[in-house]
Amino acid sequence: MAEQATPATAREWHLAARPQGWPVPADFALVEVPVRTPEPGEILVRNAFLSVDPYMRGRMNDVKSYAPPYQLGRAMDGGAVGYVVASGAEGFAPGDAVLHGLGWREYTTLDARHAVKVDPDAAPLSAYLGALGMPGMTAYAGLLAVGGLKEGDRVFVSGAAGAVGSMVGQIARLKGASLVVGSAGSAEKVAKLVDEYGFDAAFDYKAAPVAEQLAKAAPEGIDLYFDNVGGDHLEAAIGALNVHGRVVLCGAIAQYNATSAPAGPRNLALAIGKRLRLEGMLVNDHAALQPQFVAEVSGWLKSGELRTEETVVDGFENATEAFLDLLRGVNTGKMVVRLEG
Ligand SMILES: NC(=O)c1ccc[n+]([C@@H]2O[C@H](COP(=O)([O-])OP(=O)(O)OC[C@H]3O[C@@H](n4cnc5c(N)ncnc54)[C@H](OP(=O)(O)O)[C@@H]3O)[C@@H](O)[C@H]2O)c1
Repeated sequence: MAEQATPATAREWHLAARPQGWPVPADFALVEVPVRTPEPGEILVRNAFLSVDPYMRGRMNDVKSYAPPYQLGRAMDGGAVGYVVASGAEGFAPGDAVLHGLGWREYTTLDARHAVKVDPDAAPLSAYLGALGMPGMTAYAGLLAVGGLKEGDRVFVSGAAGAVGSMVGQIARLKGASLVVGSAGSAEKVAKLVDEYGFDAAFDYKAAPVAEQLAKAAPEGIDLYFDNVGGDHLEAAIGALNVHGRVVLCGAIAQYNATSAPAGPRNLALAIGKRLRLEGMLVNDHAALQPQFVAEVSGWLKSGELRTEETVVDGFENATEAFLDLLRGVNTGKMVVRLEG
């Protein structure tokens, strides 16, 4: 960690307006605020990496959900990793690396009970926002605890080149899936899934109808669908699922900026005859799996069996653009913002 004098003021990103459809730069405001000295029990953290995640789009709406909406004129929050620069809390010292939930800020003073120390020597700091953090845990718990992945399963995952999806496909393979198919939004991403991530097949959902491409990639059907997208992807998967197939409803990113309800799935009644199980998941429900997740995934990362990738955007002032790029599909793997220092 580079030694730096703590400034008197620092910047944070506020929600300036609630978007209708796609967010625009004017929905965010960059605001300079005083840096507060920690009280007893608190730590002052200089953030090194900020996470931008699809769920943040939902928090920009004034809608009651599992995560509270961002407040107009207030700083947004989200995952971040950084270094303690001053501590009033026992067990935390300057230089300690921590993971916490007050991202979208250059500096933050917070109750140390809301920060977790992480080891920057065990993995790059940003990995605690991705493969070893919330998205990695979502893939692991979704596939194993919710999806009940079994050896020999034929698996399809959408959003397959993203933070969650790229891990879902690889973990499915490591756990004995007999077929792993992914969809993503460009020919480059599709090639990477097959050539570098070990998927058996992948397709560009923008190139032809999903149902058509999925039928070609999985002629004997699928047993498990990990849904990051919703809409036409979910409809195609319901059509392709075998009897007693399962669907992990993890996300529906195709809908997050939509201003009207999706056209599909129009074939949900097929779930009856096929005796399908569709189950929603929230990563926060699976904290009990955390030790098993960290042990298994860090083992795969060390052995090289699991490949991860990040799209890194430099500069705090570019955080909102990074978030918009995530929604546009510019990223491969986890999208993070790197702060100077
Ligand atoms: N339930 C939970 O607890 C939980 C936790 C974490 C994440 N999630 C969900 O998991 C999903 C993936 O999250 P992530 O963090 O890993 O993000 P990500 O996949 O790294 O990034 C989002 C990706 O979504 C794709 N996308 C954007 N618009 C799309 C559209 N209209 N149709 C299809 N794909 C589209 C883009 O890739 P393309 O180039 O392929 O379009 C983009 O790269 C999201 O739905 C998220 O909400 C759920």
